[in-house]
Amino acid sequence: MIRDGRLGKEFDSGVAAFTSSIDFDSALFEYDILTDMAHMVMLVEQDIVDPGDAGKVLSVLKKLLDGGIGSIDLSADFEDVHMAIEAYIIREAGDAGGRLHTGRSRNDQVATDLRMKARDDVLFLSKALTGLASAMLEAAEKHTLTLLPAYTHLQHAQPTTLGHHFTAYAESLLRSLDRLEGAYARVDLCPLGAAAVTTTSFPINRERTAELLGFAGVLHNSMDAVSSRDYMAEIAADTAIISVDISRICEELIVWSTSEFGFIELDDSHTSTSSIMPQKKNPDILEIMRARTASAFGGLISVLTMLRSLPQSYNRDLQEVSPVFFNTVDSAASSLVLLSRIVSSIKINSDVMNAACTGDFSTTTELADVIVREKNLPFRTAHQIVGALVSQVLDEGIASADVNSNLLDRIAKEVTGGSLGLSDETVRSALTPLLAVKARKVIGGPAPETMEKAISDRLRALSVIEKTISERETALRQSRKSLLSAVDSVLEA
Ligand code: ARG
Repeated sequence: MIRDGRLGKEFDSGVAAFTSSIDFDSALFEYDILTDMAHMVMLVEQDIVDPGDAGKVLSVLKKLLDGGIGSIDLSADFEDVHMAIEAYIIREAGDAGGRLHTGRSRNDQVATDLRMKARDDVLFLSKALTGLASAMLEAAEKHTLTLLPAYTHLQHAQPTTLGHHFTAYAESLLRSLDRLEGAYARVDLCPLGAAAVTTTSFPINRERTAELLGFAGVLHNSMDAVSSRDYMAEIAADTAIISVDISRICEELIVWSTSEFGFIELDDSHTSTSSIMPQKKNPDILEIMRARTASAFGGLISVLTMLRSLPQSYNRDLQEVSPVFFNTVDSAASSLVLLSRIVSSIKINSDVMNAACTGDFSTTTELADVIVREKNLPFRTAHQIVGALVSQVLDEGIASADVNSNLLDRIAKEVTGGSLGLSDETVRSALTPLLAVKARKVIGGPAPETMEKAISDRLRALSVIEKTISERETALRQSRKSLLSAVDSVLEA
């Protein structure tokens, strides 16, 4: 359709298929129609196109929106979805259809469609994230008393609770939600009217099209408007950070479901079995998810690499950024949706978790702290005494339950020359995991009351975010309705 003028030839064979973006930009179909509608409504309001022609185009657009993507020819003969749609309009509306492209270009058109899709994508991704964060917090709420070793270096460090552990993930997911919230505001600006690169001499009204498409405002500089994709890099970076969490959670659930750990059991519906080993229950879904996070990291690097060498302003390279961006976001969002369901349905073996905290000397920090408090010794000295105690207990094969005041004094004498004289009761309670947990009441610590407050604060923060998301969704739905009534007003006039 556009080659007839300047170019004397059709594409060389294979070039159309090589360059066409129609495979992936069909995802922009609806956004493109809405952009067309807003542009045409504005053109008629500005007396740039007469109402008769505008009406013809708008009724074809309405028909197309109802008929859906099946109505248009999606062959690679078209460079992209925008050309396929325009060809359809011209076929249906005749010459009037040729007026749609007045004062605009595919450059600002695609930039607008992409930002509209990115708004929806950010909201979808955010919803999926809130799903996982609430699954984590709901499980955490039920397990503020379920003991679990806190690991550092994947070695037992100190006893904590499953509630504390799951809330740690929720914190990180909440930060990602915050990042996405900021990203949304930067996406929500309208490039339409920038035309190819320097706007147009037609008296268009950019603020009106921005409003009709439900954007918070206009994306000012027209060169920047057609070429900026930094929001894609930003959201891909956010997605990569989210994917770090997805992968870590998958990894941990996989490890926890081994027979060595036995901390959890995945629901049968989230596992596979072996074609040869009948006993197997494999965490394949989590493994696939863990592997797919690679596409987010690769996606981020691809987006940045494609953007980094582009001179101002629009370059066709930008077309190739879109599918990478789409896949990155889609893959993370679908993992998040499934991962929330997996987390909500795991069977938690609290007994095994509790038992893992017994006899592992993970309470010895607490014993050293008690020595400091009761005997006013420097922490370093207490650390030395308790370290020597653990070493002796291990050498002599003494059960941790048999550690008492006498034994501690024997060691203390060896280390410092004096005994401590703590009661057996004091030594025993210092070494009792649940008591060590309950003693950690400091902000951010695992003491049950501290955790209950932390969890309810986080749940409240989550519901504020959920409210923002749903307000934004409502606003987008509302703006679509207003756009369609603006179209009807032109048609009825
Ligand atoms: N399909 C292109 C893209 O996704 C939009 C068209 C702009 N093409 C052009 N040759 N100026 O970026």
